Amino acid sequence: MINYAVDKDGIATLEWDLPGRSQNVLNEQTMAAFAEAAQKALADPAVKGILVASAKADFIAGGDLDMLLKATDAQAMSDNLKLWHRLFRALETTGKPVAAALNGTTLGGGLEVALACHYRVAADNPKARFGFPEVTLGLLPGAGGTQRAPRLMGIQAALMLLTEGKRIKAADALKQGLIHAVVPAGTERDAARAWLLEQAAKNAVPGRDGKPGKTLQPWDQKGFKIPGGGVMTPGGMQTFMAGNAMLREKTQGNYPAPKHILSCVFEGMQTDIDTGLAIETRYFVNLVRSPEAKNMIRSLFFFMQEANKLARRPKDVPVQKFTKIGMLGAGMMGAGIAHAAAAAGLEVVLLDSTQEGAEKGKAYSAKLLEKRVARGQMKPEAAQALLARIKPTTDYRDFAGCEMVIEAVFEDRALKADVTKKTEAAIAADAIFASNTSTLPITGLAEASSRPANFIGLHFFSPAEKMPLVEIILGKQTSPATLARAMDFVRAIGKTPIVVNDARGFYTSRVFGTYLSEGMALLQEGVAPALIDNAGRISGMPVGPLALADEVSIELVHKIASQTKKDLGDKYVPRAADQVAALMVDKLGRLGKKSGHGFYEYPADAKKHLWPGLAEHFPARTGQPSLEEVVERLMLIQSLETVRCLDEGVLTSPQDADVGAILGWGYPPFRGGPIGQIHTMGVANFVAACDRLAEQCGERFRPSESLRKKIAEGSQFFPI
Ligand code: NAI
Repeated sequence: MINYAVDKDGIATLEWDLPGRSQNVLNEQTMAAFAEAAQKALADPAVKGILVASAKADFIAGGDLDMLLKATDAQAMSDNLKLWHRLFRALETTGKPVAAALNGTTLGGGLEVALACHYRVAADNPKARFGFPEVTLGLLPGAGGTQRAPRLMGIQAALMLLTEGKRIKAADALKQGLIHAVVPAGTERDAARAWLLEQAAKNAVPGRDGKPGKTLQPWDQKGFKIPGGGVMTPGGMQTFMAGNAMLREKTQGNYPAPKHILSCVFEGMQTDIDTGLAIETRYFVNLVRSPEAKNMIRSLFFFMQEANKLARRPKDVPVQKFTKIGMLGAGMMGAGIAHAAAAAGLEVVLLDSTQEGAEKGKAYSAKLLEKRVARGQMKPEAAQALLARIKPTTDYRDFAGCEMVIEAVFEDRALKADVTKKTEAAIAADAIFASNTSTLPITGLAEASSRPANFIGLHFFSPAEKMPLVEIILGKQTSPATLARAMDFVRAIGKTPIVVNDARGFYTSRVFGTYLSEGMALLQEGVAPALIDNAGRISGMPVGPLALADEVSIELVHKIASQTKKDLGDKYVPRAADQVAALMVDKLGRLGKKSGHGFYEYPADAKKHLWPGLAEHFPARTGQPSLEEVVERLMLIQSLETVRCLDEGVLTSPQDADVGAILGWGYPPFRGGPIGQIHTMGVANFVAACDRLAEQCGERFRPSESLRKKIAEGSQFFPI
């Protein structure tokens, strides 16, 4: 795992080279191998300097997440980290110079290895990124990152890097003091060697005490001061005061990782480095064992990776490469999807009923690109090239040669049937026809198609150029090959697919809808609207349910409920939310944000605020529920509906459920996802809570039999 060689000048090279993997990662085995090599070099009198390098395209990608997901034993973790710290401290204090040649990306644990070296030189590699992404998975850098970074960069700059998880380029890492030099790619080892030889020569000259010199880290030298001042300086105090407040506002206290990072830096910077490392270990172990970290690692890393690697793609279908697609309808969604596809290098034929409409869709891209160019994020030539790939038209014949056409015309069954027929007359027999409908069943829409096996739903989210999820919907006759190719397309434009079966509201809209309707039910019961929406935000959802109902429009909520009632007839179970929506729309004319009046008022010249009239129409009951009770209802109802989607086969995997919720409607990642939440509570606790809520609030909270079966079997959704 670590190639070891000593050259004629006495420079030992420790080269990370994990067999069978494209990236170097830090885990117990690799660190044991590194420790062995490092100790050998430190002990060998012939070795005058140590060079740490990588045989892969990148330096070290970070910690082994599989190990961290499984880790539960606090003592073992803590003992292990102590060994790492001892090794890093030996490298820092023995006196032999140690340099890291950073050929590529250096993240997390990899950056911590580099920080334990006296000198860091990076290749001028445009792909290389540096930083501490741990926080994005609910963790903190546990191999000294929270202690060494602020001692190098200063408290404020280090906190930004540590709590935001940003990945910066080599030039920025240099500017911020994280590394010492950037050199042309391919010369980084030479530069590191030159520095080592220079240091070794310096050390060879005995000092006034007659002893050889030592290369030490700044914090091991006499008179060391934290750059920019310590914690108890006016600047330090201000940083922590503002930092705490900002963190609270951003996370509502739901994410322990950034809070623990602040604590590590606050406590650690008031003591020596060894005590600081011990403090860091305590907070790190606490985080690794936290449900928040387990949920985030599982959903944001492993499930997301599965989805992006197309784990549920039908096998045996050759991978399709897409070069040209058609976009039917150049409205809000069509323009966004066209942009995403053109940005991925595809030719896009953008068709609307008028040339003006089609041009307008293309102008949307032009505007987005203008902004990027102005901000220096894109070269004007690249923007021009992207724009040139979008061809606005009204002529279906331009669809010839498209491997897929995506329809995003008005939400109207007859209109969609008409454009399907016209399109199929122009495209090849094996081309895919995809509909971006948000509510109409795919099987029904496919009736207009002469080749329903090639017909599929691709449900994008708004704004389509930005939102990462695509919900793929299978019609009854959609073929596995069409699914496989549609998944290839979603990946080709850099988005993440989940696969669902055709049913009312599909998955995302259906479950997301329960959050809105539960908020409205609470209002109907006389719960204070401010309590409802604050509970929504404190639960970790991006927006409270009433504010969100305003955003999507109460009118739409009302329309969907009326349509569902019509379609289901006697089977329809009336909901409190229906009465609220009917009252708001039909009687009060308050349609939501778009009309300027909804649950909130939207004055032109001031911030939105709750409509005072709500108090008259939904009088506050005496004895308001606690915040926790409201949060519980808003979150558990989503998990229950998700389980129903699994029971009914709308969803085929709990992994897709969690990925879809996080990416689709901003479900809070610290809970894992609607299924992750059940897993975190334990199925039995979840069922008991839902049974209690069913007695209090109604049968919608009654847990399904599949959950009781799980309890009887003693099984759970996920192994960890
Ligand atoms: P939109 O009203 O902004 O755009 C529809 C476009 O279709 C217009 O440019 C219109 O001129 C064009 N169009 C109408 N008839 C046409 C025809 N015969 N031939 C060619 N073009 C025609 O609507 P939006 O919001 O883009 O929605 C489009 C579809 O996407 C709908 O089915 C909607 O349900 C669905 N959807 C919408 C989402 C949203 O957030 N707005 C999210 C996901 C899906």
